[in-house]
Amino acid sequence: MGWFQGKAAVVTGAGMGIGRDTARILAAQGAAVMCADVNLDAAAGVVKLITDAGGQAAMVKTDVSDPKQCEEMVAATVKAFGGLHLAVNNAGISGGPLKTATHPIDDWRRIISVNLDGVFYSMRYEIPAMLETGGGSIVNVSSILGLVGFESSPAYTAAKHGVVGLTKTASIELAQQNIRVNSVNPGFIMTPMQTNQGVNTGDETYNYIAAKHPMNRFGNPQEVAYGIAWLLSDEASFLTGISMPIDGGYTAQ
Ligand code: NAI
Repeated sequence: MGWFQGKAAVVTGAGMGIGRDTARILAAQGAAVMCADVNLDAAAGVVKLITDAGGQAAMVKTDVSDPKQCEEMVAATVKAFGGLHLAVNNAGISGGPLKTATHPIDDWRRIISVNLDGVFYSMRYEIPAMLETGGGSIVNVSSILGLVGFESSPAYTAAKHGVVGLTKTASIELAQQNIRVNSVNPGFIMTPMQTNQGVNTGDETYNYIAAKHPMNRFGNPQEVAYGIAWLLSDEASFLTGISMPIDGGYTAQ
């Protein structure tokens, strides 16, 4: 048994980090999970973890910045599992230490296209499939940088604020059609997104950023994944349109 017994889910960016732990938790709670990722090897690793643990999962190669691939991702999920009840639009790329006055234009477009366009393209095809299935629940992964500004990463911050706005509007559109739409807003989380940029626990950059959180540490991906799972579940049945910080107190200051 579990929160999601008999439910079909899709998680974008499921191959690593927050998406990976989310896919595992949804599957452990009974969902059949489509692991969508631009990195198919990473997605295959998660599918193996889930199936080895007795869960149900499949994978699809998806670059969320391409609407056609998002359409195919949803079609593959419905084909594999017979419908779509749960969606976690999590795929994202970092904004880097870039400043507005010198931001390369190509980098701006790329960051917006994955982090904002990708969430819209995913929802654009998930919502009709959920309506067809009879309802569902969507969680978009924004960031604390969807709620407050930061000292760099303007494209990332703009995209993540955009995800919050898109979430609110979709939640109102769908409130009477049995689809809830919420976002989570993680603080800094130790995932490959951070380690690939050279941030490691206890080093100078880690300590500088950790100190911006009242808990004086980064979060771990499970701490975000459990919040996503709860928001998706029927336990949160009167919640729609919210942006839930999971941030060690960062936005409480
Ligand atoms: P990560 O880099 O560890 O993993 C991201 C996953 O998404 C990877 O498997 C990657 O292959 C996949 N991906 C990247 N671009 C893609 C694309 N165009 N289409 C499909 N899949 C793609 O990242 P992490 O940290 O797990 O981040 C997940 C989400 O959480 C992102 O939206 C990120 O912006 C957000 N977030 C992360 C924070 C952090 O400090 N790690 C803080 C706040 C939000």
